Amino acid sequence: MATALDATGSPAEAALRPLKFEDFTGQAKTIERLRVMVGAARRRGEALNHILLSGPPGLGKTTLAFILGNELGRNVRVTSGPVIEKAGDLAGLLTNLEAGDILFIDEIHRIQKTVEEYLYSAMEDFRLDIMIDQGPNARSVRLSIPRFTLIGATTRSGLLTAPLRSRFTLQTRLDYYDAPTLAGIIRRSCGLLQVEIDAGGAAEIAARARGTPRIANNLINFVRDYAQERADGRITQKIAAAALELLEIDASGLDEMDKRMLRVIAENYRGGPVGMSTIAVAVGEESETLEEVHEPFLIQEGYLQRTPQGRVITPKGARAIGLSGFTNEQGTLL
Ligand SMILES: Nc1ncnc2c1ncn2[C@@H]1O[C@H](COP(=O)(O)OP(=O)(O)OP(=O)(O)O)[C@@H](O)[C@H]1O
Ligand SMILES: [Mg+2]
Repeated sequence: MATALDATGSPAEAALRPLKFEDFTGQAKTIERLRVMVGAARRRGEALNHILLSGPPGLGKTTLAFILGNELGRNVRVTSGPVIEKAGDLAGLLTNLEAGDILFIDEIHRIQKTVEEYLYSAMEDFRLDIMIDQGPNARSVRLSIPRFTLIGATTRSGLLTAPLRSRFTLQTRLDYYDAPTLAGIIRRSCGLLQVEIDAGGAAEIAARARGTPRIANNLINFVRDYAQERADGRITQKIAAAALELLEIDASGLDEMDKRMLRVIAENYRGGPVGMSTIAVAVGEESETLEEVHEPFLIQEGYLQRTPQGRVITPKGARAIGLSGFTNEQGTLL
């Protein structure tokens, strides 16, 4: 049986990780899809179909892989794309599985091309044709593999090849959590940590957690220390705000890279429009990362707009970086 400690992440993170669908809040569409698949697999006594979970870091991809294992009562073996260096590594992993087990491959977009091709037949036909020896002695050996479930996780779904992507029955994307959902997650975490928190305290942390449960849990840890050292241990709105002020986490929760993107658009390109590849060069990050990890949050929260001509900062975006009262390229006063 999978334990939360097998998963990646710190022990503190593992302690707060939901183990059942019931404990997992938010991501309603994804959860509904997964419940349907788990129900059907159970009813038929078959292995779950392969699933690809994508979305920005800290939203629950690893958590869901373990929940699926628990709900099905199956083992979860964890590995990650870059760790599987050759076909033999993959063969080792797959032949050690029992029927119905889950193989969780994190960062699956970073899997080697040569290994990826072996994965195709493993996923589709549950076999591996491996070449052994070289030259005149070279021959291929066919290994059959138990019917397993591959759960792939990626923060960069755009980098997955079409053949790999198409072998997943379900491809589902996790979105940033809205503040009320995040506040619920925060109250649950505080319950597990036996920390007293009121609605105002939860709302304050939620507003500054960038839509991300992992960030929320990290903030709770500091706020809890602060509440113990500077007050009576209870987390209220006032205590949470003061603690997060001390961490220099601003009220919007934007991270350093979010703000750098906004600054480039505002200061170098007068608010835009400007293409993502230009922004990427200016901030020194790959444009795929900006598009998949940073931009969705900025757009969802209304700091940035995507137009056919490029990215444009909004008045809210300008305020978030301390600018206001300037006219952008299109003559709009920000
Ligand atoms: N819906 C949720 N409800 C409660 N807690 C959650 C939820 N989603 C995530 N968490 C918490 O956030 C932490 C981070 O989640 P997780 O490790 O699953 O993220 P991830 O998507 O795998 O991130 P990465 O891409 O960095 O691997 C978990 O330890 C868990 O405690
Ligand atoms: Mg993970």
